[in-house]
Amino acid sequence: PRPILLTRHGESLDNVRGRIGGDTVLSEAGELYAKKLANFVEKRLKSERTASIWTSTLQRAILTASPIVGFPKIQWRALDEIYAGVCDGMSYEEIKRNMPEEYESREKDKLRYRYPRGESYLDVIQRSEPVIIELERQRAPVVVISHQAVLRALYAYFADRPLKEIPHIEVPLHTIIEIQMGVTGVQEKRYKLMD
Ligand code: G3H
Repeated sequence: PRPILLTRHGESLDNVRGRIGGDTVLSEAGELYAKKLANFVEKRLKSERTASIWTSTLQRAILTASPIVGFPKIQWRALDEIYAGVCDGMSYEEIKRNMPEEYESREKDKLRYRYPRGESYLDVIQRSEPVIIELERQRAPVVVISHQAVLRALYAYFADRPLKEIPHIEVPLHTIIEIQMGVTGVQEKRYKLMD
């Protein structure tokens, strides 16, 4: 059976500042995670010549992949984080203060809520479908380096979690979720590489 390794990018400067979206680089902790991830991937997939690394097109994901050598890398726009439209770059506090109705609508129905000029979870789930189809087709292992909202959608598909749970699934930073698809079903392991 071939593993699929799912991980968020290493901690970014916007993660530290509590801002959503954006396209910043990694914090020091994020850079350390990138190195640990590279180590892990090189050991775990040492004998797998045909493995590949899939990232989003955002800097924090590309930089997280950059210490990994010896495997082809592919960038997917479909792996980019949920786009928060006019709220891109804001903190949740700022959204709550400046756009309370938006904040409340999202609290009420996080799955269907669409940011003004941005995306909803349903949008993200829909655009993640081509990635899922391609992951299903792969015979070799794949490392997916993406973002919380998109990984929630991918994880829910493989772990067979219901649609309404998707926006609330915990996908912690600096943790690898390994999915094994075997004949007897899907198995999952988690590796927390940093606190
Ligand atoms: O920036 C977006 C976050 O990773 C997704 O968080 O959808 O739970 O607000 P949220």
